[in-house]
Amino acid sequence: MSKFPPRVFSGIKPSGDLHLGNYLGAIRRFVPLQKTHACIYCVVDLHAITVWQDPEDLKRGTYEIAAAYLAAGVDPKEHIIFNQSQVVEHAELAWMFNCVVRMGWMQRMTQYKDKAGKNTQNVSLGLFAYPSLMAADILLYQTTHVPVGDDQKQHLELTRDIAQKFNNDFAGSISKNNLPAEFFPIIEPVITGPATRILSLKDGAKKMSKSEQSSAATIYMLDDADAIAKKIKKAKSDADALPSEVAGLEGRLEAGNLVGIYAALADISKQDVLNEFGGKGFGTFKPALADLAVAHLAPIAENMRRYLAEPDEIETILKDGANRARTIAQKTMKDVREIIGFVQ
Ligand code: TYM
Repeated sequence: MSKFPPRVFSGIKPSGDLHLGNYLGAIRRFVPLQKTHACIYCVVDLHAITVWQDPEDLKRGTYEIAAAYLAAGVDPKEHIIFNQSQVVEHAELAWMFNCVVRMGWMQRMTQYKDKAGKNTQNVSLGLFAYPSLMAADILLYQTTHVPVGDDQKQHLELTRDIAQKFNNDFAGSISKNNLPAEFFPIIEPVITGPATRILSLKDGAKKMSKSEQSSAATIYMLDDADAIAKKIKKAKSDADALPSEVAGLEGRLEAGNLVGIYAALADISKQDVLNEFGGKGFGTFKPALADLAVAHLAPIAENMRRYLAEPDEIETILKDGANRARTIAQKTMKDVREIIGFVQ
């Protein structure tokens, strides 16, 4: 049983337009956690610059993610919303973790391998070091739970390994400073529900992603009702009727994806969806899904636009959140500097 009070941290990179995968895999799940946990939701702008960003786009993306958190129902007074670069301790702890983590651990990261591809000599050093910054984000706040989509699982496993290694490497100093032996918590990934991996609407072999070139493959959070409905109706599917059991979706990636999206939006299980639509074809299912998606997403988009029209209000919220986050971060870093042996 962890001695740490339940605390959630999660983040989204401002590196492209927010999409349905980000919403269902992350943001939608951030909201109910507020009832049971102290939550910190971050716009991870330091992560975004591991790949070059146009400065104006970076700013726009930062406002957009903050607006999405607010529009989806994150409460910035009870909880914390901020952008990472305003709390410099993230970069400081990341450096220390760079000196804890092993090259071999980092070289195993599949997301790095996918993103670097054949270009390993020409990507930024930051892209390679990215997971130790992510571990720093999480451990700076002695977080216990991290809700993310399936693609972040390996990074969270690495975060556990880094915490464990730091606790072991500095065990003597931790105890000399009268700090708990488990100084950094061993976090719990929270990767649950029917939508942990939303796929491209045009190709079930790919996940929906910010870097996708085809806008027909991706539902963006700021899409209007018409665009949402069109994209769903034109989504790739197959010629068969929906099965009546979840097992029948096996090998039918696009069908499984659309059923998962329906389930996540309606907050029911995939089996519940099949109880209603099993035996029916996509001619029936897609219009029902389009109606549901529009009813759910259009009000959020409208709310986001309202926030985006008031950038000063967003800045005030981010600054206030950063001030409160910094208070927690500074306390952790004072202990970390002492543990490592820096004179302060
Ligand atoms: P990012 O910005 O790529 O994605 C943000 C969140 O959205 C989830 N997600 C998806 N979920 C389901 N289906 C998809 N197609 C899909 N695409 C994205 C991601 O899993 C993520 O939860 N490294 C992180 C950001 C980060 C972070 C952190 C997260 C930095 N520090 C600390 C948690 C804790 C990332 O690049 O997310």
